[in-house]
Amino acid sequence: MVRKKVLTEDGSLTRFHPHYQEHYHSLSGARNEAIQRFVVPCRIIERAQLAGVVRILDVGFGLGVNVAVTLEEIRRQVPDARCEWVSLEKELLPLVDLQEHWGEGKVARELCELVSKGSLDEELWSGRILVGDARDSLRSLIGPFDAIYLDPFSPARNPEMWAVEVMRALWEVCEEGGILSTYSSAAKARLALMAAGWEIGLGPRVGRKSSGTVASRGAVDPPLMALEEKQRRSLERRLNEETGINGCDPPSPAAGINSP
Ligand SMILES: C[S@@+](CC[C@H](N)C(=O)[O-])C[C@H]1O[C@@H](n2cnc3c(N)ncnc32)[C@H](O)[C@@H]1O
Repeated sequence: MVRKKVLTEDGSLTRFHPHYQEHYHSLSGARNEAIQRFVVPCRIIERAQLAGVVRILDVGFGLGVNVAVTLEEIRRQVPDARCEWVSLEKELLPLVDLQEHWGEGKVARELCELVSKGSLDEELWSGRILVGDARDSLRSLIGPFDAIYLDPFSPARNPEMWAVEVMRALWEVCEEGGILSTYSSAAKARLALMAAGWEIGLGPRVGRKSSGTVASRGAVDPPLMALEEKQRRSLERRLNEETGINGCDPPSPAAGINSP
């Protein structure tokens, strides 16, 4: 299946997926989206500065743009911090196609090795790609992670990745105080996150897309940007009607696919 290359507005490349009928990134800029949608709202640089290590779970490796950009940003801004990375992907593209998205240099060479071998261990970076359906990989994944990049295709086209069970499995591998970010502002995505126990807030607006969603396991400081009150109340009402869960209830451990 050919995934046609498309030039985005910041000069970086993305591709179009013929089955999902969606692009892998915002057409306003693949690299820009990686920074604005994931690195910034997940507070990657701040965590690397404070803790000296940041552990990231990347749901949907895709073209590897998020991993390439995140590593470059950590190295540029906090060169002595360590990054521990795990990607989940069900359709790993051929290396020759992926390489076109990484440019040249140290990060590109490391990603080539990561994709060829499936894992890579260096002093300041460890990476793993778990190839297969993320729902299966999540069952055996051992956390905790400080940040989760939730980047499958949309809830309308890739619905299995937005189920409450997936959100709950992500909650379980997230560190207390960890942050998840996604481009989706769909009620389906937000309700699933809330039902799984995540606190949710407003994500940044990237390009022409509406604001996405950020979520945290427990409270974070500074707090997430609040959703509009009307929007929050409507989501809480729907959550209550659809699941009987009150927006303030703590999550039930029995709800997770990772539960014993
Ligand atoms: C929007 S793209 C991700 C773009 C990527 N984050 C990047 O930086 O290039 C979505 C990815 O999610 C993957 N995906 C969709 N459903 C999946 C599933 N059930 N398990 C694992 N990966 C899945 C797709 O194959 C695709 O590569």
